[in-house]
Amino acid sequence: MTDTTSNQMWGGRFAAGPDAIMEAINASIGFDRRLAAQDIAGSRAHAAMLAATGIISDSDAEAMREGLLTVLSEIEEGRFEFSTALEDIHMNVEARLKAIIGDPAGRLHTGRSRNDQVATDFRLWVRDQLDATEAGLKALIGALLGQAEAGADWVMPGFTHLQTAQPVTWGHHMMAYVEMFARDLGRVRDARVRMNECPLGAAALAGTSFPIDREMTAKELGFDRPSANSLDAVSDRDFALEFLGAASICAMHLSRFAEELVIWSSAQFRFVALSDRFSTGSSIMPQKKNPDAAELIRAKIGRIFGANVALMTVMKGLPLAYSKDMQEDKEQVFDAADNLMLALAAMEGMVRDMAPQRAALEAAAGSGFSTATDLADWLVRVLGMPFREAHHVTGSLVAKAEAKGCDLPDLSLEEMQSVHGEIDASVYDVLGVHNSVASRMSYGGTAPEQVRAQIARWKEVLT
Ligand code: ARG
Repeated sequence: MTDTTSNQMWGGRFAAGPDAIMEAINASIGFDRRLAAQDIAGSRAHAAMLAATGIISDSDAEAMREGLLTVLSEIEEGRFEFSTALEDIHMNVEARLKAIIGDPAGRLHTGRSRNDQVATDFRLWVRDQLDATEAGLKALIGALLGQAEAGADWVMPGFTHLQTAQPVTWGHHMMAYVEMFARDLGRVRDARVRMNECPLGAAALAGTSFPIDREMTAKELGFDRPSANSLDAVSDRDFALEFLGAASICAMHLSRFAEELVIWSSAQFRFVALSDRFSTGSSIMPQKKNPDAAELIRAKIGRIFGANVALMTVMKGLPLAYSKDMQEDKEQVFDAADNLMLALAAMEGMVRDMAPQRAALEAAAGSGFSTATDLADWLVRVLGMPFREAHHVTGSLVAKAEAKGCDLPDLSLEEMQSVHGEIDASVYDVLGVHNSVASRMSYGGTAPEQVRAQIARWKEVLT
């Protein structure tokens, strides 16, 4: 919609209203309406502070308080008419407040600017997202701990280069992701501590000559302190970038795990059965059960890291203090936050529901000469062979098994001794996958005992 009259908030020096295209490129109300609750909370804190410091009367502040609550309920109940001509959430709320309470509304903007207002609103919004991300990560970690505990001693192949490397335990593999998501949790918490400073009162850029109380508004809004430099307060968005950075790394971790689930649920692997609740069928191939949720989680990194790159690029090279470029911050962060929350929740559901296939995991664990390293270690330990020589002897035994079309434990003692005469029957003890994983007792290793110790540690840390 085009407003032909000049703007009611700043139209004093304007004779004409904006061109329709100008209005279209300028307005942010289409998306920053998501900041309504934060905007109203900020205004309520500001109004209360203006009265407490004697800058406005108590009766004006009371009218503002009630009026703002009315505006909030209108918005929450979908009865609010947003106006593009009023550009953004700040001016939409203030104009509606004026319509409800009249002249006192005009005093609300004393000692503040939309620049500190939007910085405050957006910080409050991002802070909520950091808290929501923390909750989402904790739920996902809880689901992983459940899977790890149930299969702490189940064996499966461990891979490097996606080639069978050594047997590992299912619990160990699940706990690897617990470590990753726990670091993501740490990043989110760190970012929250750093970002929890209140820009309100920085005003347009230089602070204000009114005797405002910034400690009071900061405290009211749950911030640890007011920000200490008004230029910085209105012009940086590093708090949003830290969120996007943490979100990107988390989405990258989700993507890797999702890729494993896609591979593991294929007919060629059959390591896990995904639940019907997190799969889809094919409209043409009746046998299909597709891991769509995992694929979409795998893909979310694209838009989340995209948002990170986009906002970093918007901020790069901006001179102090506020520039309208910064209005481009919000959609990126909104989209990244929405999709991260969705991906975390979908992954949690999938992990809770999935059924690891113990027999298939165990069968795969023993194939591909996965205990060759155990054999080499046995030659070192029992026969005192230098590791390099043991590596060579084991290689010859693998070649023998491969030629015969069998696995290492299927070679007879005579066949073993034809490669090295001192090998005795006790070698078979280390060729089994259960013995192999049980022997990996180094701290952080794959032995069920080690895995259970890590599960217990994380349970304690996270509760
Ligand atoms: N909608 C604006 C934004 O998101 C609010 C701040 C406007 N400030 C200004 N000086 N025009 O950045």
